[in-house]
Amino acid sequence: MLPASAAECFRHPRLAAVYDRLYPDRRDLDPYLRTAEETGARHVLDIGCGTGVFALLLGGRGIDVTGVDPAKASLDVARGKPGGERARWLHGDATTLPPLTADLATMTGNAVQEITGPEDWQRTLQGIRAALRPGGRLVFETRIPARRAWEEWNREATYGVTEIAGVGAVESWVDLLDVSGPLVTFRRTYVFAADGQTLTSDSTLCFRERQEVEAALAAQGYVVEDVRDAPDRPGREFVFVARRPESAC
Ligand SMILES: C[S@@+](CC[C@H](N)C(=O)[O-])C[C@H]1O[C@@H](n2cnc3c(N)ncnc32)[C@H](O)[C@@H]1O
Repeated sequence: MLPASAAECFRHPRLAAVYDRLYPDRRDLDPYLRTAEETGARHVLDIGCGTGVFALLLGGRGIDVTGVDPAKASLDVARGKPGGERARWLHGDATTLPPLTADLATMTGNAVQEITGPEDWQRTLQGIRAALRPGGRLVFETRIPARRAWEEWNREATYGVTEIAGVGAVESWVDLLDVSGPLVTFRRTYVFAADGQTLTSDSTLCFRERQEVEAALAAQGYVVEDVRDAPDRPGREFVFVARRPESAC
Protein backbone atom coordinates (compact mmCIF):
# COMPACT_ATOMS: atom_id res chain seq x y z
CA MET A 1 0.00 0.00 0.00
CA LEU A 2 1.24 3.54 -0.77
CA PRO A 3 2.01 5.75 2.22
CA ALA A 4 -0.36 8.62 3.01
CA SER A 5 0.34 11.87 1.22
CA ALA A 6 1.42 14.80 3.36
CA ALA A 7 0.75 18.53 3.01
CA GLU A 8 3.19 20.67 1.05
CA CYS A 9 4.53 22.34 4.21
CA PHE A 10 5.91 18.94 5.28
CA ARG A 11 7.01 17.56 1.91
CA HIS A 12 8.43 20.62 0.08
CA PRO A 13 12.19 20.74 0.81
CA ARG A 14 12.25 24.52 1.20
CA LEU A 15 9.31 24.48 3.62
CA ALA A 16 10.48 21.42 5.56
CA ALA A 17 13.86 23.14 6.05
CA VAL A 18 12.28 26.12 7.86
CA TYR A 19 9.48 24.26 9.68
CA ASP A 20 11.21 24.14 13.09
CA ARG A 21 12.11 27.84 12.91
CA LEU A 22 8.55 28.85 12.09
CA TYR A 23 7.05 26.75 14.92
CA PRO A 24 9.74 26.90 17.63
CA ASP A 25 7.62 26.59 20.79
CA ARG A 26 7.66 22.86 21.62
CA ARG A 27 6.44 22.84 25.20
CA ASP A 28 3.75 20.52 23.84
CA LEU A 29 6.36 17.74 23.82
CA ASP A 30 7.04 17.82 27.59
CA PRO A 31 4.10 15.57 28.58
CA TYR A 32 5.13 13.03 25.93
CA LEU A 33 8.65 13.00 27.34
CA ARG A 34 7.26 12.49 30.83
CA THR A 35 5.14 9.56 29.61
CA ALA A 36 8.19 7.98 27.99
CA GLU A 37 10.10 8.37 31.25
CA GLU A 38 7.26 7.25 33.53
CA THR A 39 6.60 4.13 31.49
CA GLY A 40 10.30 3.30 31.21
CA ALA A 41 10.00 2.99 27.42
CA ARG A 42 13.16 1.66 25.77
CA HIS A 43 11.86 1.74 22.20
CA VAL A 44 9.48 4.46 21.01
CA LEU A 45 7.73 4.60 17.65
CA ASP A 46 6.94 8.21 16.68
CA ILE A 47 4.29 8.28 13.96
CA GLY A 48 4.09 11.46 11.89
CA CYS A 49 7.52 12.38 13.28
CA GLY A 50 7.94 15.26 10.83
CA THR A 51 11.33 16.93 11.26
CA GLY A 52 12.15 14.62 14.16
CA VAL A 53 12.06 17.09 17.06
CA PHE A 54 10.49 14.63 19.52
CA ALA A 55 12.33 11.59 18.21
CA LEU A 56 15.67 13.36 18.72
CA LEU A 57 14.73 14.44 22.25
CA LEU A 58 14.15 10.76 23.01
CA GLY A 59 17.34 9.70 21.25
CA GLY A 60 19.26 12.19 23.39
CA ARG A 61 17.98 10.33 26.46
CA GLY A 62 19.30 7.01 25.20
CA ILE A 63 15.91 5.72 24.05
CA ASP A 64 15.76 3.75 20.79
CA VAL A 65 13.47 5.59 18.44
CA THR A 66 11.82 4.85 15.13
CA GLY A 67 10.31 7.85 13.37
CA VAL A 68 7.89 7.34 10.50
CA ASP A 69 6.42 10.01 8.25
CA PRO A 70 4.98 10.18 4.72
CA ALA A 71 6.87 13.43 4.03
CA LYS A 72 10.35 12.54 2.77
CA ALA A 73 11.62 16.14 2.91
CA SER A 74 10.79 16.31 6.63
CA LEU A 75 12.56 13.01 7.24
CA ASP A 76 15.61 14.35 5.40
CA VAL A 77 15.66 17.33 7.79
CA ALA A 78 15.35 14.96 10.77
CA ARG A 79 18.10 12.67 9.52
CA GLY A 80 20.48 15.61 9.01
CA LYS A 81 20.18 16.96 12.57
CA PRO A 82 22.79 16.25 15.27
CA GLY A 83 21.93 12.81 16.67
CA GLY A 84 19.82 12.02 13.59
CA GLU A 85 22.06 9.09 12.78
CA ARG A 86 21.09 7.35 16.02
CA ALA A 87 17.39 7.10 15.12
CA ARG A 88 15.70 4.89 12.54
CA TRP A 89 13.69 6.91 10.00
CA LEU A 90 11.00 5.26 7.89
CA HIS A 91 9.27 6.83 4.93
CA GLY A 92 5.65 5.80 5.26
CA ASP A 93 2.92 5.71 7.84
CA ALA A 94 1.48 3.36 10.44
CA THR A 95 0.06 1.09 7.73
CA THR A 96 3.46 0.42 6.13
CA LEU A 97 5.56 -0.49 9.18
CA PRO A 98 7.96 -3.42 9.36
CA PRO A 99 7.58 -5.77 12.36
CA LEU A 100 8.30 -3.82 15.58
CA THR A 101 7.73 -4.35 19.29
CA ALA A 102 7.67 -0.78 20.54
CA ASP A 103 7.04 -0.01 24.21
CA LEU A 104 5.40 3.29 23.35
CA ALA A 105 3.92 4.84 20.20
CA THR A 106 3.38 8.60 19.96
CA MET A 107 1.71 11.01 17.59
CA THR A 108 2.73 14.52 18.62
CA GLY A 109 1.76 17.89 17.16
CA ASN A 110 -1.84 16.80 16.46
CA ALA A 111 -0.50 14.53 13.70
CA VAL A 112 -3.51 12.28 14.21
CA GLN A 113 -5.77 15.00 12.79
CA GLU A 114 -3.96 14.71 9.45
CA ILE A 115 -5.63 11.32 9.01
CA THR A 116 -9.04 12.28 7.71
CA GLY A 117 -10.62 9.19 6.11
CA PRO A 118 -12.43 6.76 8.45
CA GLU A 119 -10.71 3.73 6.90
CA ASP A 120 -7.26 5.33 7.06
CA TRP A 121 -7.92 6.15 10.70
CA GLN A 122 -8.88 2.53 11.49
CA ARG A 123 -5.91 1.17 9.56
CA THR A 124 -3.59 3.58 11.37
CA LEU A 125 -4.80 2.38 14.78
CA GLN A 126 -4.48 -1.25 13.62
CA GLY A 127 -0.96 -0.67 12.32
CA ILE A 128 0.15 0.99 15.55
CA ARG A 129 -1.35 -1.79 17.66
CA ALA A 130 0.54 -4.37 15.64
CA ALA A 131 3.78 -2.41 16.13
CA LEU A 132 3.39 -2.26 19.94
CA ARG A 133 4.50 -5.04 22.24
CA PRO A 134 1.68 -6.47 24.38
CA GLY A 135 1.24 -3.95 27.21
CA GLY A 136 2.74 -1.14 25.11
CA ARG A 137 1.09 2.27 25.04
CA LEU A 138 -0.11 4.73 22.44
CA VAL A 139 -0.23 8.46 23.32
CA PHE A 140 -1.56 11.19 21.07
CA GLU A 141 -3.40 14.48 21.21
CA THR A 142 -6.21 15.92 19.17
CA ARG A 143 -7.83 19.35 19.32
CA ILE A 144 -11.19 19.56 21.09
CA PRO A 145 -13.81 20.32 18.40
CA ALA A 146 -15.92 22.52 20.70
CA ARG A 147 -13.01 24.97 21.03
CA ARG A 148 -13.29 25.70 17.31
CA ALA A 149 -9.57 26.41 16.86
CA TRP A 150 -10.16 27.14 13.18
CA GLU A 151 -11.86 30.41 14.10
CA GLU A 152 -8.35 31.76 14.76
CA TRP A 153 -6.98 30.40 11.49
CA ASN A 154 -7.12 33.66 9.55
CA ARG A 155 -4.54 36.08 8.25
CA GLU A 156 -5.14 38.69 10.94
CA ALA A 157 -4.54 36.27 13.81
CA THR A 158 -1.71 34.28 12.24
CA TYR A 159 0.39 36.73 10.18
CA GLY A 160 4.04 36.86 11.15
CA VAL A 161 7.52 37.49 9.81
CA THR A 162 10.29 35.19 11.00
CA GLU A 163 13.94 36.06 10.43
CA ILE A 164 15.83 32.83 9.80
CA ALA A 165 19.64 32.69 9.73
CA GLY A 166 20.88 31.76 6.27
CA VAL A 167 17.38 32.01 4.79
CA GLY A 168 16.24 35.56 5.45
CA ALA A 169 12.78 36.78 6.37
CA VAL A 170 9.83 34.45 5.85
CA GLU A 171 6.33 35.90 5.95
CA SER A 172 3.63 33.39 6.80
CA TRP A 173 -0.05 33.27 7.54
CA VAL A 174 -3.08 30.98 7.45
CA ASP A 175 -6.40 31.34 5.62
CA LEU A 176 -9.40 29.20 6.46
CA LEU A 177 -10.85 27.64 3.29
CA ASP A 178 -13.68 25.37 4.38
CA VAL A 179 -15.41 23.78 7.35
CA SER A 180 -17.48 20.71 6.48
CA GLY A 181 -18.60 18.79 9.56
CA PRO A 182 -15.46 17.46 11.26
CA LEU A 183 -13.19 18.40 8.34
CA VAL A 184 -11.45 21.77 8.36
CA THR A 185 -9.44 22.88 5.34
CA PHE A 186 -6.99 25.76 5.43
CA ARG A 187 -4.10 27.20 3.45
CA ARG A 188 -0.70 28.18 4.81
CA THR A 189 1.16 30.79 2.74
CA TYR A 190 4.90 31.42 2.95
CA VAL A 191 6.77 34.26 1.24
CA PHE A 192 10.57 34.10 1.14
CA ALA A 193 11.91 37.67 1.10
CA ALA A 194 15.29 36.57 -0.29
CA ASP A 195 13.87 35.79 -3.74
CA GLY A 196 10.17 36.58 -3.42
CA GLN A 197 9.10 32.95 -3.82
CA THR A 198 5.60 32.31 -2.51
CA LEU A 199 4.65 28.77 -1.55
CA THR A 200 1.28 27.59 -0.32
CA SER A 201 0.27 24.44 1.50
CA ASP A 202 -3.32 23.23 1.84
CA SER A 203 -4.30 20.89 4.65
CA THR A 204 -7.48 19.21 5.81
CA LEU A 205 -7.68 18.19 9.44
CA CYS A 206 -10.26 15.98 11.12
CA PHE A 207 -11.69 17.13 14.45
CA ARG A 208 -12.91 14.09 16.42
CA GLU A 209 -15.02 14.04 19.55
CA ARG A 210 -13.69 12.31 22.66
CA GLN A 211 -16.30 9.53 22.55
CA GLU A 212 -15.54 8.91 18.89
CA VAL A 213 -11.82 8.45 19.58
CA GLU A 214 -12.49 6.24 22.59
CA ALA A 215 -14.82 4.05 20.51
CA ALA A 216 -12.28 3.80 17.67
CA LEU A 217 -9.54 2.79 20.10
CA ALA A 218 -11.77 0.18 21.75
CA ALA A 219 -12.82 -1.17 18.34
CA GLN A 220 -9.15 -1.73 17.48
CA GLY A 221 -8.50 -3.60 20.71
CA TYR A 222 -6.94 -0.90 22.87
CA VAL A 223 -7.74 -0.18 26.52
CA VAL A 224 -8.15 3.56 27.07
CA GLU A 225 -6.21 4.27 30.26
CA ASP A 226 -6.61 8.01 30.46
CA VAL A 227 -7.82 11.10 28.63
CA ARG A 228 -5.81 14.09 29.85
CA ASP A 229 -5.60 17.79 29.27
CA ALA A 230 -2.56 19.16 27.42
CA PRO A 231 -0.79 21.14 30.20
CA ASP A 232 0.50 23.80 27.81
CA ARG A 233 -2.92 24.29 26.17
CA PRO A 234 -5.48 23.67 28.93
CA GLY A 235 -8.99 22.95 27.71
CA ARG A 236 -7.92 22.88 24.06
CA GLU A 237 -6.84 19.31 23.43
CA PHE A 238 -7.57 15.78 24.53
CA VAL A 239 -4.48 13.69 25.21
CA PHE A 240 -5.30 9.99 24.92
CA VAL A 241 -3.29 7.29 26.64
CA ALA A 242 -4.24 3.83 25.37
CA ARG A 243 -2.68 0.41 25.95
CA ARG A 244 -2.41 -2.71 23.89
CA PRO A 245 -3.62 -5.40 26.33
CA GLU A 246 -1.12 -7.97 27.58
CA SER A 247 -3.18 -10.74 26.02
CA ALA A 248 -5.83 -10.72 23.33
CA CYS A 249 -9.28 -9.98 24.76
C1 LIG B 1 1.84 19.00 12.43
S1 LIG B 1 3.03 17.88 11.83
C2 LIG B 1 3.68 17.26 13.35
C3 LIG B 1 5.05 16.68 13.18
C4 LIG B 1 5.68 16.13 14.47
N1 LIG B 1 4.88 15.08 15.05
C5 LIG B 1 5.92 17.23 15.47
O1 LIG B 1 5.31 17.22 16.54
O2 LIG B 1 6.76 18.11 15.17
C6 LIG B 1 2.05 16.53 11.23
C7 LIG B 1 2.88 15.40 10.61
O3 LIG B 1 1.98 14.33 10.27
C8 LIG B 1 2.45 13.76 9.07
N2 LIG B 1 1.36 12.98 8.46
C9 LIG B 1 0.45 13.34 7.52
N3 LIG B 1 -0.36 12.32 7.23
C10 LIG B 1 0.05 11.28 8.00
C11 LIG B 1 -0.39 9.92 8.15
N4 LIG B 1 -1.43 9.44 7.47
N5 LIG B 1 0.27 9.13 9.02
C12 LIG B 1 1.31 9.61 9.72
N6 LIG B 1 1.76 10.88 9.65
C13 LIG B 1 1.13 11.69 8.79
C14 LIG B 1 2.91 14.95 8.26
O4 LIG B 1 3.77 14.59 7.20
C15 LIG B 1 3.58 15.79 9.33
O5 LIG B 1 4.95 15.49 9.42
